[in-house]
Amino acid sequence: MKKSAIYAGSFDPITNGHLDIIKRAAKLFDTIIVAISPNNNKKPLFTATERLDMVNEAIHDIDGAKAIIFEGLLADLVNKNKFDAVIRGLRATTDFEFEIQMAQMNARLYTGSTETIFFMTDPRYSFISSSLIKEVASYKGNINELVPSHVEQMLINKFIQQP
Ligand code: COA
Repeated sequence: MKKSAIYAGSFDPITNGHLDIIKRAAKLFDTIIVAISPNNNKKPLFTATERLDMVNEAIHDIDGAKAIIFEGLLADLVNKNKFDAVIRGLRATTDFEFEIQMAQMNARLYTGSTETIFFMTDPRYSFISSSLIKEVASYKGNINELVPSHVEQMLINKFIQQP
């Protein structure tokens, strides 16, 4: 039977750390949905549509990967689509507390047998967060090798428009 997973996040912007997890998950699942939360309470730099475009370009060569924008509870989307797994990345022990809370709250909300599966982040990317990337890019710092090149360009363009 075909197996499907969902990897949700704000992806503001998507980084090579996220991409590494998507690629590894894509080897285990037939379909992996990269679900972009507008997460407006985080005051995103990129609109949800800009993030959809950047994610689509980043995953275009990953078999079975597809990006969507979603609003509302992740568990509702999971229940509606009967995903087999929710993928999460763990960068450091500090992620663990929040992740276990979220996984257990979500588990209460799932109506099916969806499992949360954690991938250990590649050590090359364990210190990255989208906020840190934006901060460094805003000061024209070097983010090469931490984000795909088209994302780097989108950040440069954004900070030219919004100095
Ligand atoms: N590589 C690089 N960065 C990573 C990473 C990785 N492997 N894994 C996580 N990060 C970064 C993210 O970019 C993010 O950075 P930021 O805080 O600077 O934006 C940070 O680590 C936290 O990541 P995450 O916990 O995935 O937060 P998020 O904002 O990207 O996504 C949602 C959170 C969307 C998954 C979550 O809020 C959600 O499910 N929302 C829907 C509403 C809901 O169901 N709420 C109830 C949950 S129980």
